[in-house]
Amino acid sequence: MTMRTKQSCFWCLWILLCGSCVGRFVVEKNNLKITSPKSLRGIYECAIGNFGVPKYGGTMIGSVVYPKSNQNGCRNFDASLSSKPGTFPTFVLVDRGDCYFTLKAWNAQKGGAAAILVADNRIEPLITMDTPEEGNGAKDDDYIEKINIPSALISKSLGDNIKQALSSGAMVNVNLDWREALPHPDERVEYEFWTSSNDECGPKCESEINFVKSFKGAAQLLEQKGFAKFTPHYITWYCPEAFLLSQQCKSQCINNGRYCAPDPELDFKRGYNGRDVVIQNLRQACFFKVANESRKPWQWWDYVTDFSIRCPMRENKYTEECSDQVIKSLGVDLKKVKDCVGDPSANAGNAVLNAEQDAQIGNDDRGDVTILPTLIINNRQYRGKLSRAAVLKAICSGFQETTEPSICLTPDMETNECLQNNGGCWQDKASNITACRDTFRGRVCECPIIQNVQFVGDGYTHCEATGTLRCAINNGGCWKETRGSRSYSACIDGHTKGCKCPPGFRGDGANSCEDVDECKEKLACQCPECQCKNTWGSYECSCSDGLFYARENDMCIGKYAASMAGGGIVWLVILVLGIAGTGVYAFYKYRIQRYMDSEIRAIMAQYMPLDNQPEISSQAHEGV
Ligand SMILES: *[C@@H]1O[C@H](CO)[C@@H](O)[C@H](O)[C@H]1NC(C)=O
Ligand SMILES: *[C@@H]1O[C@H](CO)[C@@H](O)[C@H](O)[C@H]1NC(C)=O
Repeated sequence: MTMRTKQSCFWCLWILLCGSCVGRFVVEKNNLKITSPKSLRGIYECAIGNFGVPKYGGTMIGSVVYPKSNQNGCRNFDASLSSKPGTFPTFVLVDRGDCYFTLKAWNAQKGGAAAILVADNRIEPLITMDTPEEGNGAKDDDYIEKINIPSALISKSLGDNIKQALSSGAMVNVNLDWREALPHPDERVEYEFWTSSNDECGPKCESEINFVKSFKGAAQLLEQKGFAKFTPHYITWYCPEAFLLSQQCKSQCINNGRYCAPDPELDFKRGYNGRDVVIQNLRQACFFKVANESRKPWQWWDYVTDFSIRCPMRENKYTEECSDQVIKSLGVDLKKVKDCVGDPSANAGNAVLNAEQDAQIGNDDRGDVTILPTLIINNRQYRGKLSRAAVLKAICSGFQETTEPSICLTPDMETNECLQNNGGCWQDKASNITACRDTFRGRVCECPIIQNVQFVGDGYTHCEATGTLRCAINNGGCWKETRGSRSYSACIDGHTKGCKCPPGFRGDGANSCEDVDECKEKLACQCPECQCKNTWGSYECSCSDGLFYARENDMCIGKYAASMAGGGIVWLVILVLGIAGTGVYAFYKYRIQRYMDSEIRAIMAQYMPLDNQPEISSQAHEGV
C-alpha cells in the first residue's frame, strides 16, 4: 500500500468521524414580504447566503426582475440591472444550478442589482447557499470577497409563482427583512468565533485572519465598554482507539489521540503537522483563559493578530518560542499559559480542550459547529461574509433597540492602547519614538515616519531609520559620543541605512564604538624613532632626533637626509629640509584637494619659512 492510498483512507476516516458528529446544521433565515401583486401578498421565508453582506437588523425594498436570457446568472448580464432614478432597486431572480451561488451573486452585483434571489430548482426545505469548497472554484475566487449585496434562496414554488406573475406583466415588489434574523434580547451581545491558528489553508485562512485584524478594534471597544462578551473557540477531533498508534494520529493529535487537527497541507511529510496546529490552538485558548482571568479578555485579539504576523508557517516561525515572545510582549503571564497548555505528550485530558469539545455540540437554536470559521452571535450562526462592516452590522442588530453602542452609529473611535505597555510595539525609550499607533482598528505596530525619515522594521522588536536624512533623527539609531570638544558619530550622512564606527573606533556602531588603541595594537607609529600616544578616537606620534612625522606614510621624515649629511653642515640640512618641505608641501597640496585639512595647513605654515632651529615635531591630528 502506498503512502498516498493510506492517506486517502485516513481522510475517509476523518469524513466518517465528522459525519457522525455533523448532527444538525441550522439554516439561518430572514423574511421576504411580497407587497404586490395582491395575489402573492404575504410573508415568506428565505435562507441567508453565506457570502455577501446581509443587512442584519434592517430591511430593503426592491422590485423583482427575471432576466430573459442568462436565467441562471452564470454569465455577465447584458442588460443593466441598475434601477432608474425614482424606481425601486432591482432584485434579480435567477435559477439555482449550473454554477456556484457566489458566481451568480457576483454577476448580479456587477450588473447593478441591489440583491439576488435564487430560486431553488427542486422541492426541498431551504438550504444555506455556501461558498465553493477550497480547491474547487479556487482558481479565481477572489471575487467572493468583493460580493457586498445580500443574497437569499427562495423555495421552488415561490420562485415559480413570482416568475408567473412577472410573465403576466405584474410588478413584483418585495421587502427583504433581516430585523428578526438575530435575537436581540438585551443590552449585551454574546458572540463566539470558531477559528484556528492554521494559516496555510489558502484564501479561507487569509480571509479569516484579515477579519480578525480588521475587527480587532471594534471587538476590543465593545468588550471594554461592556457591550459585548466574546469567546474564541477551537474545534478538535479525537483519534479512534484502533488508530492510536498509527502515524496519522501521532502526527495530528496530542494527549494520546484525545485532540487532533488535520495536517495543514494534508501531507504528513511536509511542513507543520496537525499536532502543531492543535498545540497552537490550545495556546490561543489558554491565552484567552489567562487574559480573561486578569479581566482583559480582549487581549486575545492582539495575541492572535500578532502571532499571525510574527509567527507565520511560511516563514517557519509557527513555533512555541515565537508564541512565547508574543505572549511576553503583551505582558501576559507566560507561566500561566504554559501551565494551562500542559504536556501535549501526556496520556491525560486537558480541561480547556475538553470544554471546547463539549461546546462544539449545538443546542436548540444553534447547530453543531462543524466548519471553520464560524461566527455565532447571540447563539445563532452568522451568515454572510467575514468583514468588519458586515459583522459589525450583525452584532449591532443583536442589541435591543435603542441600546446600541455609539460604535454602531459611527465607525470612528480610538482605543488608547498605546498608553499601556506601548501596545507591545517597538519603542526607542531615549528618543520616545514608537511604532505604536492608535487607530479605529485598534492599535497597530508599524514603524513610523518622523520628519520625513522613514523607519523600517517589523514594528515589534525593531525599527530603523532609513533615507539620507536619517542622521537628523535620533542620530539614525547609531552610536554617538562627545568628549570635550570632540564628537564622533557612527551615522554616516548619505548612507541610507546601517551604522558604522568612524575611523579609530570599532564596534557594532548601533550600541557602541570602542576606541582603538593604535599604539598597543601596533597599527601605526611603530618606526624606531616614533613615540606613540593613544588618544580617544586617534593617536599622537612624535619623532625623536628632530624628525618630522608624516602621518600619511606613518614614518619620520628626514631620516635619510640626516644620515647623508654625516658631518652636519647647516646649509645642507637646510637644503634637505627644504626639499623635504617642498615634498611635503606638494603632498599637502594633493591632500588638501581631498580633505581640506586646515590643521596640516597650519603645520606647514609653521615650517615653510625655514628657520634656523628646525625642531621639527609633528602633532597628530584627528579630524579626517
Ligand atoms: C471570563 O471571566 C469571567 C469573570 O472573570 C468568568 O465569569 C467567565 O466564565 C470567564 N470566561 C471564560 C471562558 O473563562
Ligand atoms: C513620550 O511621549 C509621550 C506622549 O507624547 C509623553 O507622555 C511622554 O512624557 C514622553 N516621554 C519622554 C521621555 O519624552
